[in-house]
Amino acid sequence: MDKETVLVIDFGGQYNQLVARRVRECNVYCEIYSYKTDIEKIKAMNPKGIILTGGPSSCYEEGAAKCSPELFNLGVPVLGLCYGAQLMNHVLGGEVARASAREYGKTDIKVDTSSELFKDVPEKTVCWMSHFDYVKRMAPGFKSVANSANCPVAACENAEKKLYGIQFHPEVLHTPYGSKMLFNFVRNICGCEGSWKMEAFAKETIENIKKKVGNGKVLLALSGGVDSSVAAGLLSKAIGKQLTCVFVDHGLLRKNEAEEVEAIFGKNGDFDLNFVHVDAKERFYGKLAGVTEPERKRKIIGEEFIRVFEEESKKIGAVDFLAQGTIYPDVVESGLGGESAVIKSHHNVGGLPDYVDFKEIIEPLRNLFKDEVRKVGLELGLPRNLIFRQPFPGPGLGIRIIGDVTADKVRIVQDADYIYREEVDKAAEEYRKAHNGEDPTWMPNQYFAALSNMQSVGVMGDERTYDRALVLRAVKTIDFMTAEASEIPFAVLQTVMSRVINEVRGVNRVFYDLTSKPPGTIEME
Ligand code: XMP
Repeated sequence: MDKETVLVIDFGGQYNQLVARRVRECNVYCEIYSYKTDIEKIKAMNPKGIILTGGPSSCYEEGAAKCSPELFNLGVPVLGLCYGAQLMNHVLGGEVARASAREYGKTDIKVDTSSELFKDVPEKTVCWMSHFDYVKRMAPGFKSVANSANCPVAACENAEKKLYGIQFHPEVLHTPYGSKMLFNFVRNICGCEGSWKMEAFAKETIENIKKKVGNGKVLLALSGGVDSSVAAGLLSKAIGKQLTCVFVDHGLLRKNEAEEVEAIFGKNGDFDLNFVHVDAKERFYGKLAGVTEPERKRKIIGEEFIRVFEEESKKIGAVDFLAQGTIYPDVVESGLGGESAVIKSHHNVGGLPDYVDFKEIIEPLRNLFKDEVRKVGLELGLPRNLIFRQPFPGPGLGIRIIGDVTADKVRIVQDADYIYREEVDKAAEEYRKAHNGEDPTWMPNQYFAALSNMQSVGVMGDERTYDRALVLRAVKTIDFMTAEASEIPFAVLQTVMSRVINEVRGVNRVFYDLTSKPPGTIEME
């Protein structure tokens, strides 16, 4: 490797990808390897630094995850985190033992600010602890450089040999100065210049895909969402026409969405790939006709999607690789062994057919977090509105229409939703212009129109109407597990109401949904 690289040696900890992400945030290239990786291979990579992650084992037990003791004699700085710190002390002649009680959660610590590791960190700070075992006696040559009430060795170092151990987790946000500590290690102790940028990821990934695919054929189910679009962008830059993207329009997309996806990825777009646009609207409407039960609707949409995808794959013939836009938060387990990853990611895609004739899976975004995926997308030249679009559920408008789905109801939701988003975006943009680019506090993380199953009496132009009631939903949420209705200015809601009633035939009443989650869900069904 000719570029500055930090290796993260994975002992199965739940935060290992987060460690890698923090290193990338220091503008340093980083790769994760299993603890089983041969020491010769590690040496050949010529890393500038090595980080050992946490893990579930106890290092003194038989069969515990270990690394070669030689790792600590390479002259390369090593930072052990949690299990990694214990293992380092254990291997180098210290003693690790089980504590009488588990130390878990936010913990006050005192750090030795003369240590390189804690440069610019306040002496008294907070960290995130999660451990049973502790370093009872440090290995010879080490000294403690941080402690908590229950943990005399919250961090230790052998500065001469550039070996460092941290018992807590600097990689999580609960350790407010954690990123600084990792920065100190990577940039100051390892001496990395920090010239690597997220943009370089795209270039490297494209090269790797080229090598892996050779002359093979790749199939990708493109939804038009951020992840699959960025995956399509990377793959097409790597292998061009060897890639086929299948885009299934189930008739439950947002207004103009199919056209937008086709404009980017279709034959007049910027990407050189085979794009198959399947118009399956009538098929889905047929299957959904008269079905009102939400779960049944979801199942029908999911199953029909698979059928359509299968049929298209068969037409394309044998493909060597199936590509997926799986991103790190989709990956449930740590994937130490590698083999199990295929089954898992296969699952993630929501049940693509088992029998599609492919040999391997390609997941170019597997190690990235959402905001990193967005950076790659911008780097590839994908439009901002696609990159920063809000989440959209797989079953689409099907779960935003209460009761049975018809083409006419889809039209109403599409048109009303378009107006709603347009007005919210306009108001937000005006606010940003007046406030140095800052988002308004009411800016929702997800906002959309839905159709209730209610009809009511109204009057329009002296005529009685008996039309539908539209629901506007807008929520503020961080993790989408809980949510609050956002306080969209009343004037904006009024404009939306008036435009919807005037411009969308079939609506004579507009409601704003105030429900938080729980008790509601974000979607209506
Ligand atoms: P709920 O309605 O469960 O939504 O509060 C939480 C988040 O998940 C999205 N969502 C889905 N996304 N397939 C998806 O890909 C689905 O079936 C699905 N259902 C809900 C929803 O839009 C929100 O962001």
